[in-house]
Amino acid sequence: MSSSKALITGRDITKVFGYGKNKTTALDDVNFVFHEGEIVSIVGESGSGKTTLAKIIMGLLKETAGTIEYKGKPRLLKNHSQRREYWKDIQAIFQDPFSSFNMFHKVEKLLKDCIRLQGLKLSADEQFRKMQEACTFVNLKFEELYNKYPFELSGGQMQRLMIARIFMLHPKVLIADEPTSMVDACSRSTILDMLLKLRDENNMTIIFITHDVGLAYYVSDTLYIMEKGNVIESGRADEIILNPQHRYTQQLIADVPKIHSAWDLS
Ligand SMILES: Nc1ncnc2c1ncn2[C@@H]1O[C@H](COP(=O)(O)OP(=O)(O)OP(=O)(O)O)[C@@H](O)[C@H]1O
Ligand SMILES: [Mg+2]
Repeated sequence: MSSSKALITGRDITKVFGYGKNKTTALDDVNFVFHEGEIVSIVGESGSGKTTLAKIIMGLLKETAGTIEYKGKPRLLKNHSQRREYWKDIQAIFQDPFSSFNMFHKVEKLLKDCIRLQGLKLSADEQFRKMQEACTFVNLKFEELYNKYPFELSGGQMQRLMIARIFMLHPKVLIADEPTSMVDACSRSTILDMLLKLRDENNMTIIFITHDVGLAYYVSDTLYIMEKGNVIESGRADEIILNPQHRYTQQLIADVPKIHSAWDLS
């Protein structure tokens, strides 16, 4: 993947929350390069700074220090039009789907907003077909759901609705923060397959955030291993799994015996 173009680069990203005794350094000089079409997993235990990093990349949180470059230029999010342009390209799915939707908007409006965000002028028929197609992609039936509020859907349906929105928006980069946390193992592999299909069809870059190093290995080209606000190891997924350098990474891998058995790497 290193031969493809660098899309997002983070240099010495630091994030400190609070002051004095309540100070938490959530990220401590983190560096990264994500390439076009690459699937990157960020793996680390709870509290290691994964969601903080995702929010900084999204521009939802301001870094305390460091710079982010997008397509080789400093990322600017100072005004409405800069933010709009950036968010056209970069979308996220967060751990908690409840926080990702406006609960007062019905499914139809949530999907129509995707058409509006892209500035597309479509007839009512064309809009209907686009929304239906997106729902079909994630195995939801638009006719059954369009008139419902998000809180009337199951956790798994909500997560699939989030992917339907990604299907409609086709961003260049998707940050998926534990997108399978609310679904069973069967739906989990379906959701992962949907994301991989989106990558294959749109050359989308996917930044996948998880505790699960086995899952990360299964889906990604590149791994970033985080511990206590630091990236302690990064590189090609297979190289890290076969030859982890850091003690913490070795421990993570040792805790997942199935990596060795199921993928025949031992
Ligand atoms: N808004 C905030 N205010 C203060 N501290 C915060 C805030 N958000 C995160 N933190 C702290 O920053 C650290 C990193 O949190 P973060 O949510 O990034 O971890 P994470 O790796 O996503 O964990 P998890 O796997 O549990 O989701 C934690 O110590 C957390 O308590
Ligand atoms: Mg998190």
